[in-house]
Amino acid sequence: MPAQPFEIRALRPSSDYGAVFEPILTASPDRPFVVAQLGQSLDGRIATPTGASRWINGSAALDHLHRLRAHVDAVVVGAGTVLADDPMLTVRRVPGRHPARVVIDPNGRVSCEARCLADDGVQTIVVTSDARRGPRHVDMLAIESRDGWLDPVAIAHELHDRGLRKILVEGGATTISHFIDAGVVDRVHLLVAPIILGSGTMGLSLSPIAGLDEALRPQTRLHQLDDGEALFDCDLRQQRRG
Ligand SMILES: NC(=O)c1ccc[n+]([C@@H]2O[C@H](COP(=O)([O-])OP(=O)(O)OC[C@H]3O[C@@H](n4cnc5c(N)ncnc54)[C@H](OP(=O)(O)O)[C@@H]3O)[C@@H](O)[C@H]2O)c1
Repeated sequence: MPAQPFEIRALRPSSDYGAVFEPILTASPDRPFVVAQLGQSLDGRIATPTGASRWINGSAALDHLHRLRAHVDAVVVGAGTVLADDPMLTVRRVPGRHPARVVIDPNGRVSCEARCLADDGVQTIVVTSDARRGPRHVDMLAIESRDGWLDPVAIAHELHDRGLRKILVEGGATTISHFIDAGVVDRVHLLVAPIILGSGTMGLSLSPIAGLDEALRPQTRLHQLDDGEALFDCDLRQQRRG
């Protein structure tokens, strides 16, 4: 009899999946707690060369993203993500409260028509590099620019001062990479879909390191989602020895 092909869809989600939310639920209120999420292919890409990125990850990863949103006070995205995807940043796929929406838009590239800037009663913040004015319902947060970049540590602390203590940095890769480089990210949820793109936009891109001894080696737990995707829950505050 021929061997049965490996059916990855038959695998069950890890029984301790719920544990991935514990660090968020139990985070100290005294400082910002930052979790970043990134969905990518097996070869570490988040979009094709033409920018197509929807459905690299499947519905289980999308459910997970909405659960993450439901567990935080604020969700942060870069201008590139708003221009590419026009996300709503709401909690729709699971029960929960919509988090505040924070868009980092130093150059005013995001239109007032963007869905995440809607006047719908959800707190909305645009992080800029100057004292630009925005729509009346949008809170403009000016952060000093250095070499064209706004310090993620300052952004996280300003949000914390506004009562937004648990922060999800949802994307894209540029925004998440700067937050990790700044040392402000506590955990990364990396969702890896069983798909190989072979070309296109890479995910994380951090400051170059000279040797493997400088690599980040977070304590990591692996969870199998129910459509064959893998969730790597990485604790950047607990490094493994190289
Ligand atoms: N796979 C996933 O999980 C996921 C999640 C979200 C998005 N995406 C995809 O990612 C792509 C967009 O990602 P991206 O990396 O190109 O863009 P991005 O990270 O969404 O946005 C980057 C831009 O945001 C602004 N920005 C962010 N952080 C900043 C900081 N600390 N200081 C100053 N400016 C800052 C800058 O705007 P300026 O350019 O105006 O200076 C920067 O170029 C899209 O294709 C989207 O579909 C994927």
